[in-house]
Amino acid sequence: MRARVIADFGDRVAAIDRRVFGSFVEHLGRCVYDGIYEPGHPTADADGFRQDVLELVRELGVTTVRYPGGNFVSGYRWEDGVGPRAERPRRLDLAWHSTETNEVGLDEFARWSQKAGTELMLAVNLGTRGTLEAVELVEYANLAEGTTRAQERIANGGVEPYGVKVWCLGNEMDGPWQLGHRSADDYGKLAAQTARALKQVDESLELVVCGSSSAEMPTFGSWERTVLRHSYDSVEFISCHAYYDEKPGDPGSFLASATNMDHFIETVAAAADEVKAELGSDRTIDISFDEWNVWYIDRYHDEDKIVDPQHWPVAPRLLEDSYTVTDGVVVGNLLISLLRHADRVRAASLAQLVNVIAPIMTEPAGPAWRQTTFFPFATTADLATGDVLATAVECDRYDTAQYGSVPLVDAVVTTDGERVSVFLVNRSLEEEVTVTVELRGAHVAALDSAQTLADADRLARNTLDDRERVGLTSNDSAAIVDGALVVTLPPVSWTAVSAR
Ligand code: AHR
Repeated sequence: MRARVIADFGDRVAAIDRRVFGSFVEHLGRCVYDGIYEPGHPTADADGFRQDVLELVRELGVTTVRYPGGNFVSGYRWEDGVGPRAERPRRLDLAWHSTETNEVGLDEFARWSQKAGTELMLAVNLGTRGTLEAVELVEYANLAEGTTRAQERIANGGVEPYGVKVWCLGNEMDGPWQLGHRSADDYGKLAAQTARALKQVDESLELVVCGSSSAEMPTFGSWERTVLRHSYDSVEFISCHAYYDEKPGDPGSFLASATNMDHFIETVAAAADEVKAELGSDRTIDISFDEWNVWYIDRYHDEDKIVDPQHWPVAPRLLEDSYTVTDGVVVGNLLISLLRHADRVRAASLAQLVNVIAPIMTEPAGPAWRQTTFFPFATTADLATGDVLATAVECDRYDTAQYGSVPLVDAVVTTDGERVSVFLVNRSLEEEVTVTVELRGAHVAALDSAQTLADADRLARNTLDDRERVGLTSNDSAAIVDGALVVTLPPVSWTAVSAR
């Protein structure tokens, strides 16, 4: 099979906001405890952080990390996690039916972020708490000195303020599972009030109001419009969350998950622009896609869910999905969708970072390793620099149960003036595709690299016992032919080609 990709250097979507390569650390399962933090581990540093994990996080190229939740944040008192460790309370975490020991809190996580070379993105609790607690958290994190909260941070070792720019106004407030879930009207008022208060502390903060937890929520669309009608002038972003999984017998729809993400982004952007027009505003609200990934959520409900009222484990193994090559290909395709919308998606967080639906896995006292999803993320974060070009794909299509007829190939092209990078996916289960990438208005003379994620067994994965079973392989078919890039994509594969 053959396909054609056309990118015009005179037709640019937007500059890539580096925050689109963010991730997410929630106090959930073994993401924090036994994940980033394990004081007894042979690689632990003086702060108890695993350095093998830190190295992988740096290799992944993560730019920002959203913290501390997720559903967890809606029951969290941030004050529990600061001050002398011995005095910190142990609390019930209702979201994940666990015990939160509070050994790690904001100060520790800020230190970890610095070591990882990532920027902090914090969520405030608007589920069971309100505006004042959020203001005090901003004061604790960002005020240089002179108030009780600022002095507390200094006394706790945070001499320099953390300078957190981006703040999430709660989490998934449209979801009935959320502690403190409320109507769009009630949440919109609370979010607007809190946003205005935070802007009174510092008008340069960038605030994210909660959008829908998925495009399948019954309130999708109306939720965005109502919430934005209340908060439009005080926020910079509205959030999107989406998780995808392969349903038994339907790999075709799963491989086309990016179609759903495209629709989600475009619908939310349209809803935001509708409110913009209604209000006669000249501001544009961007999208923070601050939870996205492959997640086999049914496995959590079927096997992992803890409900015993007398059993509240510390850092249980929850949501530890083991990812296949197909899952990695879908993650690569979701990144293509995010880049394609670089004009509206200016922040995003792969959910999550370690152990919990994560690209990085760890074993207590044992090794850390890369899941299949690690590879497309790390390579895209590395190679997608500069601007996204408007990219057209001409190829055959196939029918899916969930999304109707979809293209077999998806692609996006980026350039920083010197380097041109092309990210491609072949969704066919059986056939390879030879793609010709026409770069209009540019001349490429040399190939830098061509790497593919694929396997004869599309369900292959990396496990504790076989940690390097799957990785990227060099795609030797890539060549420059008459000024175009030509590359052959195996069935169910993700590829990145870069040239200059
Ligand atoms: O990432 C796992 C969970 O998914 C988060 O806690 C929640 O925000 C979402 O439903």
